[in-house]
Amino acid sequence: MGYLPNQNLDMNDKLLVIEELRVSFHLPEGMARAVDGISFDLAAGETLGLVGESGCGKSVSALSILGLVPSPPGRIETGRIVFENQDLLRLDAEGLRRIRGREISMIFQEPMTSLNPVIPIGQQVAEPLRVHKSLSRSAALTEAAEWLDHVKIPAARKRLDDYPHQLSGGMRQRVMIAMAMVCRPKLLIADEPTTALDVTIQAQILSLMLSLKSELNMSVLLITHDLGVVAQMASRVMVMYAGQIVETGRMADIFERPFHPYTQGLLKSMPRLGDRRGGHAPRLNEIPGTVPALIEAAEGCRFADRCPHAFEACRQQQPELVKIGNGQQARCWLKHHPDRRKPGA
Ligand SMILES: Nc1ncnc2c1ncn2[C@@H]1O[C@H](COP(=O)(O)OP(=O)(O)OP(=O)(O)O)[C@@H](O)[C@H]1O
Ligand SMILES: [Mg+2]
Repeated sequence: MGYLPNQNLDMNDKLLVIEELRVSFHLPEGMARAVDGISFDLAAGETLGLVGESGCGKSVSALSILGLVPSPPGRIETGRIVFENQDLLRLDAEGLRRIRGREISMIFQEPMTSLNPVIPIGQQVAEPLRVHKSLSRSAALTEAAEWLDHVKIPAARKRLDDYPHQLSGGMRQRVMIAMAMVCRPKLLIADEPTTALDVTIQAQILSLMLSLKSELNMSVLLITHDLGVVAQMASRVMVMYAGQIVETGRMADIFERPFHPYTQGLLKSMPRLGDRRGGHAPRLNEIPGTVPALIEAAEGCRFADRCPHAFEACRQQQPELVKIGNGQQARCWLKHHPDRRKPGA
């Protein structure tokens, strides 16, 4: 038995439910709260976007789901990560291995960190089939070739023996996607899947991911800096800042009526559609200031120092994530003091 059964997990149609997840890094200079109490859920077949600038805790959140947070120095302090009614935080190493790559797959920003440079790509794509489905070497290779063809690697069968360095960046990302898909996972975690690619290739990879998603009826947790990418792919989005979710809601609502000043800043720093020339991805750091050090004691709102609307309450106490509208929530004192919002800021 790979896991301790947990009682009272009534999650209905939710594939993944994360509750109050806290992850810290215990460093010589102090404890960094990389993920500080995030909660969210994901329905079967849904694509949820997770956005926020560098260092806000997106990857650590994703790695937590698969039990891949480097420990030490990392430690999951509290929380539950419930996938199909089982708490992944209570699974042992063997239980997690059975889920990783079969039920939940992950693709990373930089394919060369997850592709092995000295193993031909065919074998790498076949590997999950051998491990999880116990296919023979030749059966797994045949299926790997079909997947490489499916992700539109030209002359896939002839490329089974190619090594990763013989492929372009876009092709390597396709190999990664094939590898993530071979076992038809229920959940795909895509951590900046297209950030390293130029704009044209990025569009091709996103459309490939969209078609695979609907074909396999997969759920996707899509992590990116780029709100434009989320807009194309996700129905719901969470905005993360300094380890916390500061706003969440349906994509259309967040685009039309962003509530949190940080979300508003992100949207402002996004180039208009059709304005993304020369592979220049929108940068979130166009909002003045930087994310606070996660080691500092957190008093007040973490965005207060960069917020054009900040007033006394913002520096004294942390706001809770509260309902703004139908399905939309934000962590901001302006909800309680709307008159403090400065016009035009
Ligand atoms: N291995 C580690 N050791 C120490 N601290 C870490 C480690 N990994 C992450 N952190 C800390 O956790 C915080 C969150 O990191 P994370 O990688 O999740 O950010 P991110 O949102 O994915 O950023 P990016 O957009 O740059 O990928 C960072 O501020 C970093 O300092
Ligand atoms: Mg990251």
